[in-house]
Amino acid sequence: AQPIILDGDPGHDDAINFLLALISPEFQVLGLTTVFGNVGLDHTTRNALIVRELSGMDVPIFAGADRPLVRGRISAEAVHGDSGMDGPDLPTPTRGAEAGHAAHFIIDTVRARSGEVTLVPTGPLTNLALAFRLAPDIVPLIRQVVWMGGSTDTGNWTPAAEFNALADPHAAQIVFTSGVPLTMFGLNVTHQAIAHPARVAAFRALGTRMGEFAAVLLEFFAEHHRERYGWDGGALHDPMTVAWLLRPDLFVSRSMHVEMDLTAGPSAGRTVADVWNVTGQPKNAEVVTGVDADGFFALLVERLGRYP
Ligand code: BDR
Ligand code: CA
Repeated sequence: AQPIILDGDPGHDDAINFLLALISPEFQVLGLTTVFGNVGLDHTTRNALIVRELSGMDVPIFAGADRPLVRGRISAEAVHGDSGMDGPDLPTPTRGAEAGHAAHFIIDTVRARSGEVTLVPTGPLTNLALAFRLAPDIVPLIRQVVWMGGSTDTGNWTPAAEFNALADPHAAQIVFTSGVPLTMFGLNVTHQAIAHPARVAAFRALGTRMGEFAAVLLEFFAEHHRERYGWDGGALHDPMTVAWLLRPDLFVSRSMHVEMDLTAGPSAGRTVADVWNVTGQPKNAEVVTGVDADGFFALLVERLGRYP
């Protein structure tokens, strides 16, 4: 099984990504790490604890950064509710997080499993950036990074910037310039997979606690997308990362040069992607550009259906 660490800010779509990985025998989930993002770190960590408990899996959880490296913190209660995972009744977790910082866990784990570990961040890249700066020796030891964030075209938090990129653009730039093998799932592809009512109904039709949990999460997540975009459901961003590890045949991608806009203007936080290689700069990211959305949702339903 492929050893992976999931780093996120649950978050409706982060939660579904965690559940997808935890039930899939293709992976050995070495740990879940949390970061500020959709809501504050206390809430994202608590949500990770809840998801672990619902999954019935035994995996360590480490809390990480509670703020970005340089800029001020932003958050997305407007999308995810005050808890960060509003919608379903959330149980009180009975077990806490481990002692120690997520960045240290990432460093120790990558060193112990040299060349093997895939990192799957689905929030701001602060924990990865901290780890890369504290221990530059780990960068060549990482198998790959698979990130949900950025966009080759428009943003969702400003006209130019996607939320995870904007939330810590300096951390993202550290990762983009690190030389680590990196695959990016931006809004340009995640906006191709909308959890419309028929797709939500497929989760509910599983008739299980997990199917119902996912359906209620997706129904809450849809509300913001209806108001903002006029879409009949939420864009299921984060689970594309783990889905791609399981079924790369469902996606198309191309490698390109990507850099962060770190200026203070209207394009601040943009992932400037050289789609047509107009600069000839070295390609540092595999950018996913297309998805078989029906195949993606079928995979999610089949996997979540494996929970009792
Ligand atoms: C990203 O921001 C968060 O709201 C989601 O969890 C996803 O990771 C989409 O822009
Ligand atoms: Ca997220």
